[in-house]
Amino acid sequence: MSKKIGYYRANTNIALIKYWGKRNKELFLPMTSSLSLTLDAFYTDTKVTVDSNLSQDYFTLDGIAQSYSDTQKVSKFVDLFRHLAGSQEHVYIESVNHVPTAAGLASSASAFSALACALNQAFNLNLDQRTLSTLARQGSGSASRSLFGGFVEWHKGEGDNSDSSYAEQIADADWDIAMLVIVINDQKKKISSRVGMEHTIQTSPFFALWPQEVEKDLALIKQAIKDKDFKTLGEVTEHNAMKMHATTIAANPSLTYWAPASITALQAVQSLREDLGFECYATMDAGPNVKVLCRKSEIDALSKQLLTHFKPEQLIKAFPGEAPRPLPID
Ligand code: ADP
Ligand code: DP6
Ligand code: CO
Repeated sequence: MSKKIGYYRANTNIALIKYWGKRNKELFLPMTSSLSLTLDAFYTDTKVTVDSNLSQDYFTLDGIAQSYSDTQKVSKFVDLFRHLAGSQEHVYIESVNHVPTAAGLASSASAFSALACALNQAFNLNLDQRTLSTLARQGSGSASRSLFGGFVEWHKGEGDNSDSSYAEQIADADWDIAMLVIVINDQKKKISSRVGMEHTIQTSPFFALWPQEVEKDLALIKQAIKDKDFKTLGEVTEHNAMKMHATTIAANPSLTYWAPASITALQAVQSLREDLGFECYATMDAGPNVKVLCRKSEIDALSKQLLTHFKPEQLIKAFPGEAPRPLPID
């Protein structure tokens, strides 16, 4: 009888230039590159126990045993690591989300990044961060970016070459920058990111424009990061998100992740910027919650202003986060 344990914490990341569309669904190869900011406030802790006595995989999330189909999804991901380790042993996975699950706050990103790191440790694989990024990607695309802290670019890669599509840190984000998250609804969304993006690709006539817009936005934002040019960073971020959401509205049947309060938030951000001079810009993912890219030095004042529309517990201050790290095993 033998037991080996891996235990890791990984942060979520929010894309400033969105990943929205796969060119290869089996390998999770994206249609475009994307770029994100890792956040300190939201993370997943995942413990993996490789136990030669188990006859199947077990998966608990927030202390609750998950269904057969949810466990199977995770098992398929574990198979990638079993294959690399030349092992047939089963695992016991205990994961805790310090981020609302499936609410558009990127739980799948921190989840599969933490799981990839914990599996690497438990199976004693010693894989490097880049390889772990290509593996995490195959659990959820956005997870490829959560292997790194700060500003991260996920390269789309070439053809069907899985190894060519990985993320890397492009800058540490160690300047006057933060993200204020406006939680509009933390419950599970009806349409997952995966289903929403596939429906958009299949049916939205506006999707044809998306890849070329991303190319342009990526070039602009990378220069803005180099120059620490917050205005351009914010403008490109907001415009990119709005273009992504426009592709979903033009899908057939039409799809939007926005709730009425999302629009209240978007308009408040615009007015705080234009009327009160705050340096703040909005982005949204596959969910109703609004993330406000802002100055660290202005986040308290900005948060106070937003209290006219939202309750204090709806406003979460986040700062640039770090790469995944091991947790103590007792
Ligand atoms: P989100 O916006 O939260 O990333 P997604 O639709 O992309 O939403 O992904 C949500 C899915 O990610 C969940 O339904 C579940 O399958 C998976 N997931 C979330 N948290 C975990 C976790 N800690 N461990 C394993 N899988 C997870
Ligand atoms: C809008 O990475 O959650 O948040 O790869 O199918 O698991 P799958 O999807 P996921 O999609 C994220 C979409 C997004 C934009 C982004 O994070 O880049
Ligand atoms: Co996700």
